[in-house]
Amino acid sequence: MNVLVIHGPNLNLLGEREPDIYGTMTLADLEQAIRSHAERLGHTTRFFQSNHEGALIDELHAQRGWADAVLINPGALTHYSYALRDAIAAIRPPTYEVHLSDITAREPWRAISVIRDACAGVHSGHGKQSYFHALDAVTVSERR
Ligand code: DQA
Repeated sequence: MNVLVIHGPNLNLLGEREPDIYGTMTLADLEQAIRSHAERLGHTTRFFQSNHEGALIDELHAQRGWADAVLINPGALTHYSYALRDAIAAIRPPTYEVHLSDITAREPWRAISVIRDACAGVHSGHGKQSYFHALDAVTVSERR
């Protein structure tokens, strides 16, 4: 399957950004780990990161014909972007919400996800393993 992996605001600073919460892996390291896991499962990946809401929405639109599934870590947009939620609902490929940290165990505002109801699943709180779990879910959905 073709899997699009999208990262939102501030995730370009992984490795130096709040390492006690997000770890010391850079975004390049993380993407390489996701690519390797996806390849083991027989999937092809494309990656995109932006700090801009509209750019993320444009990428979802642009890749909606190529992607069979989407993994998205929208960063803080998770908690308030109805535009991103509607973009996810608008496209055909099932989208999986992914977070490095456990968003339910931090500040109360962070526990709210406005994109969740438009997503096929959510994988949160396990660092890079959150992405692996989402890829595993994509693989299971393929076999159904
Ligand atoms: C995050 C959690 C969000 O609340 C935060 O704004 C991020 C990263 C995570 O991966 O844990 O930027 O999505």
